[in-house]
Amino acid sequence: MKRIATAMIALAVSVMFAAAEPAKERYEPGLGEFMTATQLRHAKLWFAGRESNLDLAAYEIDEIKEGLEEARRLHPTFDGIPVAEMMKTILDPRIAELENAVIRLA
Ligand code: HEM
Repeated sequence: MKRIATAMIALAVSVMFAAAEPAKERYEPGLGEFMTATQLRHAKLWFAGRESNLDLAAYEIDEIKEGLEEARRLHPTFDGIPVAEMMKTILDPRIAELENAVIRLA
């Protein structure tokens, strides 16, 4: 009987502590994380180009696009600067050029 009571108390205490735990927040990468990944992929793209590895080049371009899309979605502005709009006007035409270059060479 004493054992059951002890087990019940232990269970009640563990439930109380579990309820007191703060809700887990979803991890959201900052703009710097996307930028660092972009830089790494950009370097890999350069090596892919140097080695004429078009499959890898196409893959890295795709990854750069995906990362930047997510960066825009999560960080449309940074310190009041419209970074999403800047990426669209500055980077998108260049990325399209890169994609076309890979298609031409394939
Ligand atoms: C219009 C285009 C771009 C905009 C508006 C932009 C904006 C920014 C901003 C606001 C930061 C500071 C982020 C922070 O401190 O958390 C940053 C950092 C950085 N950006 Fe960009 N960026 C652009 C293009 C690029 C490209 C094309 C690359 C690489 C190929 C790049 C590489 C980096 C790197 C490596 C950092 C430093 C990240 C760190 O160490 O935390 N950026 N950029």
